[in-house]
Amino acid sequence: MAQEFDVVVIGSGPGGQIAAIRAAQLGFNTACIDEWKNEKGGPAPGGTCTNVGCIPSKALLQSSEHFEHAGHGFADHGIGVSGLTIDVTKMLARKAAVVKQNNDGILYLYRKNKITFFHGRGSFVKAEGGKYEIAVAGGKPDTLSAKHVIVATGSNARALPGAPFDESTILSNDGALRIGAVPKTLGVIGSGVIGLEMGSVWRRLGADVTVLEALQTLLGAVDEQVAKEALKAFTKQGLKIKLGVKINEVKASAAGASLAYSDAAGKAQTLDVEKLIVSIGRLPNTIGLNAEAVGLTLDERGFITVDSDCKTSLPNVWAVGDVVRGPMLAHKAEEEGSAVAERIAGQHPHVDFNTVPWVIYTSPEIAWVGQTEQQLKAAARGYKVGTFPFMANGRARAMGDTTGLVKVIADDKTDEVLGVHIVGPMASELIAEAAMAMEFKASSEDIGRICHAHPTLSEAIKEAALAVEKRALNF
Ligand code: FAD
Ligand code: NAI
Repeated sequence: MAQEFDVVVIGSGPGGQIAAIRAAQLGFNTACIDEWKNEKGGPAPGGTCTNVGCIPSKALLQSSEHFEHAGHGFADHGIGVSGLTIDVTKMLARKAAVVKQNNDGILYLYRKNKITFFHGRGSFVKAEGGKYEIAVAGGKPDTLSAKHVIVATGSNARALPGAPFDESTILSNDGALRIGAVPKTLGVIGSGVIGLEMGSVWRRLGADVTVLEALQTLLGAVDEQVAKEALKAFTKQGLKIKLGVKINEVKASAAGASLAYSDAAGKAQTLDVEKLIVSIGRLPNTIGLNAEAVGLTLDERGFITVDSDCKTSLPNVWAVGDVVRGPMLAHKAEEEGSAVAERIAGQHPHVDFNTVPWVIYTSPEIAWVGQTEQQLKAAARGYKVGTFPFMANGRARAMGDTTGLVKVIADDKTDEVLGVHIVGPMASELIAEAAMAMEFKASSEDIGRICHAHPTLSEAIKEAALAVEKRALNF
């Protein structure tokens, strides 16, 4: 006999987890199925984000940043450090403990919200009588039945053709987060978000890191001025970033990887590295879902086809997060999950991709929301720009972290803020103000008239907003 639910969620990453919690809050009898296993084979809900993504990468970024500050930053403050060492085993154990706290936190939230959790793989069996039957395989086999199904099965790393991940020499994000000792040399293919974050971690700890990128520009989606500042900073730190390359061959053994590639000028080059991270994007994950059983439509790239409300081709089947179109970000998945639960309850929420903030947790951090200058130019939209460097911000100077700038872009007629771009200290936290301003359709003048505490980094946002009308006060 199938167990009856109002809503069954398949996948417990940020998208599925928030969909399940919001559905339960709205009074639906909700189940959530997730197959991720911890080292002991037990449940590890939280998906890519918690297990091999956002959380462990930020834990390692924090550890490696402490190491870098102790080695290079403290001296300026008059603090002497001698005999500095890094215990990678301990650093990885701390990261694992942070991940487990998050896994346990999600299981606690499920109990608190009376969500029934099933550990195993969920797959469609059939659609009958206005309900979907879903089998859970892996642990104790179960069969569930529900009117509404939310698919949140996430994404997997894309491998380079001919160079499959072995997670020992050729590493996906998973292996990149558990290298057992600092490699002397590290290659990174792809200078996107993962490449720059993970490259930064291992460079700070002492690896000689070379990043090979196919495109001629670094971070093509980022505002050009910000991307140029970032490239300058990363190069100064010692990341060797080679743009416009074509990878021709990768040979891997237990000792390392040998790469043959053509550089931007078309000249043949080679690179030998101890470890190689391949971070060239991610693919939607529908493995094991048995989408065919119910006729769930996928697009030509394997994403589940959805409309702007996350409705799939099937009645009462919804899909959210990395498995559908749009940015592959945890908070985008969460917003979609929450919105779908509310739509099931008859509400009318809206998720605006234009106000979804992006953050790259390198040093300096890069964060933005809204449109870039190059996008506005391409759309032939009139705009004006204000920038403010952290060099002129008192708090940044006191912190000793003055790299970068804030850039505010506003409509040249209405003054509505169209985009805010930050490269610099704590950009990840500062961007929230910009996202809120854009959600409220603020003008640059609105931001310039808001009282910001002194001395704070946030004053750089106010100053950049004032600079739109050429009236920054401190620069
Ligand atoms: P996922 O988190 O991938 O979760 C899907 C879950 O579904 C998994 O647990 C999977 O096991 C389960 N599942 C799949 N199929 C089935 C099935 N048939 N039955 C049962 N369970 C199933 N985003 C940010 O916003 N900020 C960051 O800082 C950030 N850092 C990242 C760092 C790295 C290294 C990586 C790889 C990604 C990072 N991301 C970050 C992206 C973020 O992790 C994803 O956008 C987010 O996890 C997507 O959430 P999701 O719920 O759609 O899918
Ligand atoms: P990405 O899409 O950010 O970057 C991939 C890079 O690889 C691109 O610059 C691309 O031009 C390059 N590339 C593709 N094929 C190549 C090839 N054959 N040779 C050389 N370069 C090649 O993908 P990434 O870094 O794998 O991350 C996947 C997604 O995960 C991100 O898009 C993001 O959505 C999410 N993520 C978010 C984070 C955050 O929010 N801070 C952190 C990490 C990941």
